[in-house]
Amino acid sequence: MAKRPASPAKASLSTALIHDPYQPPPGFAAPQPGVHKASTVIFRNTAAMRARNWKEKAGYTYGLHGTPTTFTLEERIATLEGGTHTLLLPSGLAAIALVDAALLKSGDEVLLPDNAYGPSKELARHELRDWGIAHRFYDAMDPQSLADAIGPATRLVWLEAPGSVTMEFPDLPALVRIAQSRGVTTALDNTWGAGIAFSAFDLTPAVGPLAVDMSMHALTKYPSGGGDVLMGAVTTRDEALHARLKLTHMHMGWGVGANDAEFVLRSLPTLPIRYEAQDRAARALAEWWSQRPEVTQVLHPATPGSPGHEHWRALCTSAAGLFSIVFDERFSPAQVDAFVDALKLFKIGYSWAGPVSLVVPYDVATMRVVPAWRAPLVRFSVGLEAVSDLIADCEQALRALAR
Ligand SMILES: Cc1ncc(COP(=O)(O)O)c(C=O)c1O
Repeated sequence: MAKRPASPAKASLSTALIHDPYQPPPGFAAPQPGVHKASTVIFRNTAAMRARNWKEKAGYTYGLHGTPTTFTLEERIATLEGGTHTLLLPSGLAAIALVDAALLKSGDEVLLPDNAYGPSKELARHELRDWGIAHRFYDAMDPQSLADAIGPATRLVWLEAPGSVTMEFPDLPALVRIAQSRGVTTALDNTWGAGIAFSAFDLTPAVGPLAVDMSMHALTKYPSGGGDVLMGAVTTRDEALHARLKLTHMHMGWGVGANDAEFVLRSLPTLPIRYEAQDRAARALAEWWSQRPEVTQVLHPATPGSPGHEHWRALCTSAAGLFSIVFDERFSPAQVDAFVDALKLFKIGYSWAGPVSLVVPYDVATMRVVPAWRAPLVRFSVGLEAVSDLIADCEQALRALAR
């Protein structure tokens, strides 16, 4: 260990506090990895600085390009997803933007399911359009609609399973096969599956290899699990694709903070059991709603009769804690809002997968090019409260419908 110098002169105290020679002993081990925070990374000498390649994970160049903390989280997300390379971004939406920015240029076209996460559609409608990138929406429940939409300029097909808010589960292997047969790259928004419900890189294990090219995951949801972190990830098994994504990631400066990465690293070990618990509770609640006369349909992929239930059954071993209900048309949007306002345990708020159950009323007619539902729809994100309490909460809130 370096020898402690004699007490510094008062004038040198600031220097001594910055350059103190003490180094803690190596070999510290604890259940959680240490957290490394840096914008600046210090090099041993100029030769080491010049030899370092920011594209490689063999060393460190600058905080934006990786620290032990972000590299560790990237590797764990790659493990979760069944991929080999992962990049972290400051939000799920930023991860979507990375895929678009890295894969598309002026004159290209991107295809999105009409039931995609809304802000992804808005990105296509605004920034991508302004950059000369065209887009088209296809019906994810009709593979022919994707086949018909692919044209000579199509470079990227977005997939989402299930659809946002309306929860239709597509025939994912069929959609991937169509895109692949036409030489078009695929990106899946895998936030719902979370690497648990199905494997994005092994979609048909019984038949043979079939994988999406990229899996985008809003780590904000299940991997964070606390409703207190925003983060996204893009995972692939394709080295060349990863290199392309990494270049754009670097050019755009989309790094993540060490403390946010720390939160996600802390939550990851409990992800499988949280996912399972929230799945179980959501199915119990969805089953309760399916018996209620106020509701005409429960949109939960694991519920028989829900759109694409057969595709969910063929692909998935579990489901996230998310579902929607369609109220009978005799109820006005104001009555449904009154029901939502009357809920006590369910809090009104966007996002999902945290411990607190959430609820949002949606007007599907304003969200889709071709809306399948016109009646008021309410989406529930089931948290970790006791399911009997959640059912009791819904039951008491239903009284507001009658007013
Ligand atoms: C399906 C899906 N994808 C992506 C996102 C975006 O994630 P973030 O909120 O981290 O930007 C969300 C957020 O709600 C989502 O539901």
